[in-house]
Amino acid sequence: MNTPMAISATHFTLFHKTSLLFHKRCFRSFTFSTPFSSSSSSSLSVQKLGRQKWRQPVVSVLEIGGVKIGKDDVVRDDPTNNVPDTIFSKLGMQLHRRDQHPIGILKNAIYDYFDSNYLNKFEKFDHLCPIVSVKENFDDVLVPADHVSRSYNDTYYIDAQTVLRCHTSAHQAELLRRGHTHFLVTGDVYRRDSIDSTHYPVFHQMEGVRVFSPDDWEASGMDATSYAAGDLKKCLEGLACQLFGSVEMRWVDTYFPFTNPSFELEIYFQEKWLEVLGCGVTEQEILKRSGKNDNVAWAFGLGLERLAMVLFEIPDIRLFWSTDERFTSQFSKGQLGVKFKPFSKFPPCYKDMSFWVNDSFTENNLCEVVRGVAGDLVEEVQLIDNFTNEKGMTSHCYRIAYRSMERSLTDEEINQLQWNVREQAQSKLNVVLR
Ligand code: PHE
Repeated sequence: MNTPMAISATHFTLFHKTSLLFHKRCFRSFTFSTPFSSSSSSSLSVQKLGRQKWRQPVVSVLEIGGVKIGKDDVVRDDPTNNVPDTIFSKLGMQLHRRDQHPIGILKNAIYDYFDSNYLNKFEKFDHLCPIVSVKENFDDVLVPADHVSRSYNDTYYIDAQTVLRCHTSAHQAELLRRGHTHFLVTGDVYRRDSIDSTHYPVFHQMEGVRVFSPDDWEASGMDATSYAAGDLKKCLEGLACQLFGSVEMRWVDTYFPFTNPSFELEIYFQEKWLEVLGCGVTEQEILKRSGKNDNVAWAFGLGLERLAMVLFEIPDIRLFWSTDERFTSQFSKGQLGVKFKPFSKFPPCYKDMSFWVNDSFTENNLCEVVRGVAGDLVEEVQLIDNFTNEKGMTSHCYRIAYRSMERSLTDEEINQLQWNVREQAQSKLNVVLR
């Protein structure tokens, strides 16, 4: 998530902050599924999906968790929709369900940890549809009405009531309502964001939830919240140890709308403290609404790419999407932490562009334009200069780094990309090039 104060490099920070006031440059980090498809509250209506069946789709139709989704169910030329084609193409990829992919390998290793420490008690969901209602994504987990994460600048909206989940917490409330008490939810999550080697608009999270009943904490002599918090920390420290070996780690207090108290776990890796997950004791209101007022629970959400980049030494988040055999062939089922060997390093090419911005300009919108033109050939978009003249006009200069992970790019190709970016920035964002 992208707020201005975030310094660490994870995808969690979206929910750290309480209001709309902070933005920029932080890392932020929410059914339709077989179990949910029949009675899901998702606003992709049954009627609509029905229509899709008989009308031959012009473009592909995806099937996720038994539900068919056509491109025009997700991408529409309508002011309430901000999902680009490039994002639709990621919807059915399901990297977390591939046993030979670093994301799938990591998911399985975490499953193993839970299976062996909790005697298979945790149920696993990894096929829940990423299209969810605003209610599921935000309201059900108590995200305030004015929270930055709800904005069109930060979240992909299909229509005013439907989004691409921006965290796996979107499924918490419904699963609790359905009576599940120990579960892990893994899935692709979507956030409009800045561009650099650790940010990509689609990434994967795993959510964990455990519900306790009074018997559990009463015997301990502790109050329910302290008991749950202690159990949560023990569980996650054990997981970090299993994944990373004996590493130095620390807990940092933080804020999430859905947990209280809330924590982040950081691990010391390659001379830096890395934020690897967010967690906390579930807000009682969430339990109450799901008919569990006598219980307490904990929840965590971890970013799989972030952990996998560290474990497999994968230097750039775009690589997870590579279909190049030189990438894919390096990983195999059950092999956690095999170190990735870069197949070769191609030089980046930098292009600067300066323009006068208007009030509606945002960096996330610029990044969307750049990705729309250059796709995964863009490595980083960085603000390198920013000033306001005496007439009150503000100019930004962005440096765009183009680099392919797979081949050398020609000057001609890069010039063409940059030219298209300039054109589209002008026409779509109404900026005035300098
Ligand atoms: N949903 C949070 C995020 O994406 C992570 C989280 C999950 C935090 C569960 C606390 C409990 O930033």
